[in-house]
Amino acid sequence: MKNLISMRDLSKEDIMRLMDTAAKIEKGEIVPNMQRKLAALLFFEPSTRTMFSFDTAMKRMNGDTIIMSGTGNTSAKKGETFADTLQTIAQYSDIIIMRSSIEGAARYAAEVVDLPVVNAGDGANQHPTQALLDLYSIIKTQGKLDNLKIGLAGDLRFGRTVHSLAQAMAIFGAEFKFISPSFLQMPQYIKDDLAEKDIKYEEFNDIEGNIDDLDILYVTRVQRERFADPEDYEKVKGSYVLNKKMLQNVKKYFKVLHPLPRVDEIHTDVDDTEFAYYFPQAKNGVYARQAIISILLEEV
Ligand code: NCD
Repeated sequence: MKNLISMRDLSKEDIMRLMDTAAKIEKGEIVPNMQRKLAALLFFEPSTRTMFSFDTAMKRMNGDTIIMSGTGNTSAKKGETFADTLQTIAQYSDIIIMRSSIEGAARYAAEVVDLPVVNAGDGANQHPTQALLDLYSIIKTQGKLDNLKIGLAGDLRFGRTVHSLAQAMAIFGAEFKFISPSFLQMPQYIKDDLAEKDIKYEEFNDIEGNIDDLDILYVTRVQRERFADPEDYEKVKGSYVLNKKMLQNVKKYFKVLHPLPRVDEIHTDVDDTEFAYYFPQAKNGVYARQAIISILLEEV
């Protein structure tokens, strides 16, 4: 592994190595040392969990970070090209972790610089580090990744997290329920990928009536910033809300995951049930990202 750009670049072995490394880091069985290592965090789009968990991951390993959040104060404002900015940041750091609204931006960055590049989200395309922390959360709650029944609910069209997660879980023989308003269905290219691998999926409009046979329900918000027409957003916003009452007949080890931020798609009455796992999931992001950085920098 030189870079981490798309879930499709990872084999089952790569994923299992990452899971195993994250688990050993969490248990304290391995303690990667990033002393004198600097990660450049280039976040051209807003972020809370991804940016802070990468920052935390680096600092917990005795490394450090340099951070660009937005483009406000950088020479991009003076007309510097993206390639020149990247080449410059590469002079100061050991690894570049970047988020952009442009699909393919991280792949492009990996071509421009010699350092490892990590895609922390590129538009509506991919979010592989989120998928890895999601997998880690699934292993921790289900004891396995193989042959699970997963519901993906929400904005499956513009949500990059669900694109990466669907591709990742397909490697482990998952069966899917895709739950979304018709306008926000899973893109055809992802469905074609799944069909090619003989992965079963069904599509639904409502959460209600569709969760009792699931191991995991993964909920996402409607990605307002990706809508070309604000009127389309108005039509679909608030179209699904998970609440505590809907969880009466779920499986024993059933868990609700969400990459967060949530808007209104999970009622807060779900938070103190045994099924809510989204905040521990965010914590798992630190272990998963420690594993990603250590493997890419060959420190484990
Ligand atoms: C997600 C993202 O940025 O794609 N957030 C995250 O990284 N935890 C999901 C979202 O913004 O809805």
